[in-house]
Amino acid sequence: MSITRYLTGITTSGTPHLGNYVGSVRPTVRASRLPDTENFYFLADYHALIKTSGDPVRVQRSTLEIAATWLACGLDPDKVTLYRQSDIPEIPELTWFLTCVTGKGLLNRAHAYKAAVDKNTDAGADPDDGVSMGLFMYPVLMAADILMFNAHKVPVGRDQIQHIEMARDMASSFNHLYGEHFTLPEAAIEDHVATLPGLDGRKMSKSYDNTIPLFAPREQLRKLIMGIVTDSRAPGEPKDTEGSALFQLYQAFATAEETAALARAYADGIAWADAKALLFERLDHEIAPMRAVYDELIQEPERIERILLAGAEKARAIATPFTRRLRHAVGLRPLQLPGDAAPAAGKASKAARPAFKQYREKDGQFYFKLTDARGTVLLQSGGFANPRDAARHIALLQSQGLEALAELGDTVSLQVSEADLREALALLMADT
Ligand code: TRP
Repeated sequence: MSITRYLTGITTSGTPHLGNYVGSVRPTVRASRLPDTENFYFLADYHALIKTSGDPVRVQRSTLEIAATWLACGLDPDKVTLYRQSDIPEIPELTWFLTCVTGKGLLNRAHAYKAAVDKNTDAGADPDDGVSMGLFMYPVLMAADILMFNAHKVPVGRDQIQHIEMARDMASSFNHLYGEHFTLPEAAIEDHVATLPGLDGRKMSKSYDNTIPLFAPREQLRKLIMGIVTDSRAPGEPKDTEGSALFQLYQAFATAEETAALARAYADGIAWADAKALLFERLDHEIAPMRAVYDELIQEPERIERILLAGAEKARAIATPFTRRLRHAVGLRPLQLPGDAAPAAGKASKAARPAFKQYREKDGQFYFKLTDARGTVLLQSGGFANPRDAARHIALLQSQGLEALAELGDTVSLQVSEADLREALALLMADT
């Protein structure tokens, strides 16, 4: 059985709205409860600096609001790893490693950067006018987020697919140069989730200023919904569901039967005011219990801070050793540790040889492990009833190398990357 690792982040530059909820928060909270998954969710506050430079209070407030939103919507911080990007200093370090294997031309093609350049060109301005290096490097930082945890699937909106493809490119380049360290991630797109329209019928988005805050107080929510743009058809006149923002919003929250009932009411000429009242009640029905939790949480920033710090600890339990490995891989190494091959030696010396060790535990079973010259465990076996089985497994690894892993399955567990193990087995072979 294999575990699929999901990872996604939300940029902490604003207040969560209904579009974020339907498109991102609700599906990820649901996905986090699926069996055989491991979930990483984070507040992308380094990313926020790109959009909000000069507004520190907004970044901080948004971080609080988004964290509270995730928790209020049911994300369980004991089951998932929920953290703040800037609590993981390894992320900017990995960003640099990736920067060094990423062609500038690749980033020139990023949609957000290209859009900025096109706009400048059309306006007759310098192509890079107002473009920060933060904006240009956005995809590299995002790749570091994903690759640090070797995520398999990244739930994102369609507009982010290119970023995931770029992360794959960067992972491949790095792996090609330094060995198989990174999993190639894939975008997970929720096909059935429609983009939600905003108050004016265009896509709900902060940049159009047409959003409905997810946790607006009840009366404010009612007012906002009453302000949704409709056509001028009078009560009694049949209305089109097609292209009706009101209808699409309803559909995102209602069951299929409820939606069908509203479609009939449209055909029967329901008054817009009544349709809006229906939408309001339906929305509030789903949101009210979560709003109560949210309102409480937001009053307790220290509690959220504690949750995020605990999440960071979990995340760094992975990021810190992994970064150590990556530093070693790229050549950021201690100059001469005992047991390390002398840099000039070319070929590893005898002292640097990894070795298989066979032993018996108190439980009476027989085990083996492969350690490197410094005693670090590279591979650990499970228990065998007799020593011959253990020896047979060792022989398999010695004769077939990594290929034997498929056959050995659960009887051994890797403590390092396959690339490192391959290297160790090769060293062992070279000397025997
Ligand atoms: N770029 C994403 C957005 O704007 C946020 C984000 C940052 C992200 N890093 C990520 C999403 C890594 C998924 C994975 O919504």
